[in-house]
Amino acid sequence: MPAEYRSRRSCLAVPGSSERFLGKARGLPADEVFLDLEDAVAPAAKEAARRNVMAALNGGGWGGKLMAVRVNDATTRWAYRDVAEVVTAAGRGLDVIMLPKVTDPGHVIWLDLLLGQIEQDTGDQAGRIGVEAQIEDARGLARVDEIAAASPRLRALVFGPADFMASIGMRSQRVGAQPAGYAGSDAYHYPLLRILVAARAHGLAAIDGPYPAIGDLDGLAAAAASTAALGYDGKWVLHPTQIDVVNRAFSPSQDDYERAELILDAYRYHTSVEHRGAVMLGGEMIDEASRKLALVTAAKGRAAGLRRSQRFEPVPDGSAEHPGT
Ligand code: GLV
Ligand code: MG
Repeated sequence: MPAEYRSRRSCLAVPGSSERFLGKARGLPADEVFLDLEDAVAPAAKEAARRNVMAALNGGGWGGKLMAVRVNDATTRWAYRDVAEVVTAAGRGLDVIMLPKVTDPGHVIWLDLLLGQIEQDTGDQAGRIGVEAQIEDARGLARVDEIAAASPRLRALVFGPADFMASIGMRSQRVGAQPAGYAGSDAYHYPLLRILVAARAHGLAAIDGPYPAIGDLDGLAAAAASTAALGYDGKWVLHPTQIDVVNRAFSPSQDDYERAELILDAYRYHTSVEHRGAVMLGGEMIDEASRKLALVTAAKGRAAGLRRSQRFEPVPDGSAEHPGT
């Protein structure tokens, strides 16, 4: 888990070519908003989209959301100007650049160097702007560990199911849904887990991609619940109606959150005051591994705005802890 955990339960895609959508997105309860210059923008509209995105960032009013711009991929003619123009003119309003179609750690290193040059030029803090790397084809997945290690700016790996399905030849047009005829239980399990392991091995967040069937909120809820259970931090949303479903799926339940906070308190008390390594909490033995799990749930819960209603009350012999109220 990243040292400072930022909530990315819902990551809202907003086409940079649509001033109307850019305006509407400000008031929506997504944790992250990414202003898209890539696949949601037609080639002829790329330059106008850049100008819209700069104006939207400089206009402010985003209410503490995590702000990202998805630039065109590092092999395109647009990429260097996407980064240079947007970050120079509007970098202060930006937390991360999302880099799509990363197939090689060199793509991330290129972006890292370019961002460093711009930060020097504009006087911004060195290394402040982070990077989210989209893993969305066979080549990117095959090199995902190297990509995850490519820069200290990396904050998250993001699965791109649509491009990935095309890359491996999956026989389906229904992005994020299970392909008809597949005899296994989840056709996305391998890339999802592979990306998650690489992300966690390097302290990064892991984000699942879009579920484009906007009208199918049940399908979206099932897909989001599944990647949330696996350990993912969040998922893209393409439409305002998807945000609540996804925020709910990626928030820990109130019970799990309370329990995680109690485990952290109990463990802190018993290891520092009573110098014991394994202690009982509500009939369950907790140890260092439980603390690590609890840290993850507590960080996600706090970042999602959950509040505690139970206080830890130490029982000095440590045999039976009961939460106070
Ligand atoms: C997202 O970029 C995807 O390809 O699914
Ligand atoms: Mg894609």
